[in-house]
Amino acid sequence: MALQNDLLLRTLRGEQTERTPVWMMRQAGRYLPEYMVLREKYGFFERCQTPELAAEITIQPVDIVGVDAAILFSDILVVPQAMGLEVQLIESKGPFLPDPIKTVDDLKRLRVPDVEESLGYVYSAIKLIKQELNERVPLIGFAGAPWTLLCYMVQGKGSKTFDEAKAFCYQQPEVAHQLLQMITDTTIAYLKGQVKAGADVVQIFDSWGGLLSPADFENLSLKYIRQIVAALKDEVPTIIFAKGAWHSLETMAATGAHGLGIDWCIDPKLARQFAGNNVTLQGNFDPAKLLSPIPVIEKEVKAMLAAFGPGRHIANLGHGILPNVPVDHARAFVDTVKNYVHA
Ligand code: CP3
Repeated sequence: MALQNDLLLRTLRGEQTERTPVWMMRQAGRYLPEYMVLREKYGFFERCQTPELAAEITIQPVDIVGVDAAILFSDILVVPQAMGLEVQLIESKGPFLPDPIKTVDDLKRLRVPDVEESLGYVYSAIKLIKQELNERVPLIGFAGAPWTLLCYMVQGKGSKTFDEAKAFCYQQPEVAHQLLQMITDTTIAYLKGQVKAGADVVQIFDSWGGLLSPADFENLSLKYIRQIVAALKDEVPTIIFAKGAWHSLETMAATGAHGLGIDWCIDPKLARQFAGNNVTLQGNFDPAKLLSPIPVIEKEVKAMLAAFGPGRHIANLGHGILPNVPVDHARAFVDTVKNYVHA
């Protein structure tokens, strides 16, 4: 059976479509009352590790806000967990890794795991989601970029600057590159498994790529993302979202990725100039703007769509949806894209 709505896949392949596809980063989450009900009953990683729960949460935004793609409910931090690090999620504080990586000796605590064994629960979730979606919309799989995962694995928690993670890279570059390569090898196997289980697209989240200078972004991040894209791009369309790394859109496009995510700090026209015409751009609505009154959201979304122009654009936010966004505002975002006709 073929997908009923394959707008996302066709747009990633560069085909002309009837309209622009739309989904929202972090669409499976805390702004949905239906998610909050499950959040009361089960712990975060319990929700990730139980295929029935992960499937239900993944499909919620498809049913409730009508997005053109589902994204797997999981987290980028399941990879460090599978590599042997303890990862906790602390209520209203975020990720906490009690024994972060600080020295070459700490690498001995890590392994490149057998992904079927340690992350098999993700593959079970994907299979169940594909069944329950029943070809309505494509399923996006994902992983964190090696640099962003290193940030958490070394810093041990969230940070605005990830200064300890950077210090680690600048003081012990060989150890840093060893760690980045271990994460990369794990991620390639992990994403290939997601595709085998049924993911139709994969996105690489480099949330902290924008903390690096262009040269360091190449050396510490893109070098490894390039390996991941090379290993996946002939199997499935790939999207790189490197927040704040607009300076490297040209080199990111040269990886052969099908899509590049951009945030709201770059104008769509300039992003297109940097990225060239051979890649699909995804973004770039400021997530905080979903807190505006609905008529303002409608006006601003139309302006965004006009700025990207028809074709090779996936409407999305420039980063994850905020937990305090009213559901009807999220729906207004999605509906405005779906009803828009390019002049
Ligand atoms: O997009 C989706 O809806 C799919 C699910 C998804 C989650 N995390 C669920 C989640 C995805 C794609 C992620 C990716 C992720 N996780 C990133 C990259 C994207 C980004 O936002 O920059 C990062 C950096 C993480 C690490 C992480 N996980 C943080 C910093 C936090 C706490 C802060 C926050 O955003 O809530 C999490 C927890 C997390 N991951 C939640 C969800 C729904 C909230 C958990 C809860 O309170 O229920």
